[in-house]
Amino acid sequence: MAYNLLRDKKGMIFGALNDKSIAWKVAVRAHEEGARLVLTNTPVAIRMGEINQLSGICNAPVIPADATQIADLENLVNKSMEHFGGQFDFILHSIGMSPNVRKGIPYDDINYEYYLKTLDISALSFHKVIQVCRKLDALNEWGSIVALSYVAAQRTLFGYNDMADAKAVLESIARSFGYIYGREKRIRINTVSQSPTMTTAGSGVKGMDSLIDFTERMSPLGNADADDCADFCIIMFSDLTRKVTMQNLYHDGGFSSMGMSEKAMNQYDKSFRECP
Ligand SMILES: NC(=O)c1ccc[n+]([C@@H]2O[C@H](COP(=O)([O-])OP(=O)(O)OC[C@H]3O[C@@H](n4cnc5c(N)ncnc54)[C@H](O)[C@@H]3O)[C@@H](O)[C@H]2O)c1
Repeated sequence: MAYNLLRDKKGMIFGALNDKSIAWKVAVRAHEEGARLVLTNTPVAIRMGEINQLSGICNAPVIPADATQIADLENLVNKSMEHFGGQFDFILHSIGMSPNVRKGIPYDDINYEYYLKTLDISALSFHKVIQVCRKLDALNEWGSIVALSYVAAQRTLFGYNDMADAKAVLESIARSFGYIYGREKRIRINTVSQSPTMTTAGSGVKGMDSLIDFTERMSPLGNADADDCADFCIIMFSDLTRKVTMQNLYHDGGFSSMGMSEKAMNQYDKSFRECP
């Protein structure tokens, strides 16, 4: 159901690879809510993924950019402003990648070159996007910027590796830049901490099936899926959240406030009984 929440708004969406991507679901919902969009991803993701299909669904151009490269971002923001005929209103940063996770290298034997890449792609890119937009004065007053995070920024979850550190930096950037951009142009910056979700990036996390089962048992409302996340991002881009900034907002069915649930305890009891 659409509510016209983003009527007259224009936004830039990073990170739609295929129809499993959280960014894909956000783009479709934003389009339904009346927004005009620009879609972006790396040239290789555009070639290998399905973003051109999304471009047709949302009637939005795809402008390639590696979000770690300032020149790419400047080109992206300038071209987007040309497309929109001026400033725009919201940005979704939905970008994550760890070469250490990809290659199965554990946290206590980490490759530091890969570690820097993880931080650059998954966290510093958020700073770069915001800094470029601010320098080019690309956003309208009362704009909204959202990045997707994960509870591993606060709690240790086996297998999440250096992505946990990246998410902690990402959330800190939302606070640090949230102050500057809020003070100057009333632009809000938040992170949404999403339940584990079976996407291309998600399925790279060690033991993802077990993690999804565990958090489902632990969360009173069950895991939030990518469609739920899209709904939440729409509210964050809408005028209904104009005074929410510098927050990390949990969107996880209640998981982050739980210690032990009955469903998880039952499962634990069962496996305990099965072990001699
Ligand atoms: N899937 C989950 O369980 C989960 C949970 C919480 C948060 N998140 C976060 O959600 C976001 C989106 O991930 P997803 O689960 O939809 O997976 P996804 O694989 O569909 O999306 C990740 C995207 O990052 C893009 N990307 C990688 N390097 C890039 C670069 N240098 N420049 C620009 N884009 C680049 C990829 O091309 C891809 O489109 C990530 O930040 C992820 O950490 C995911």
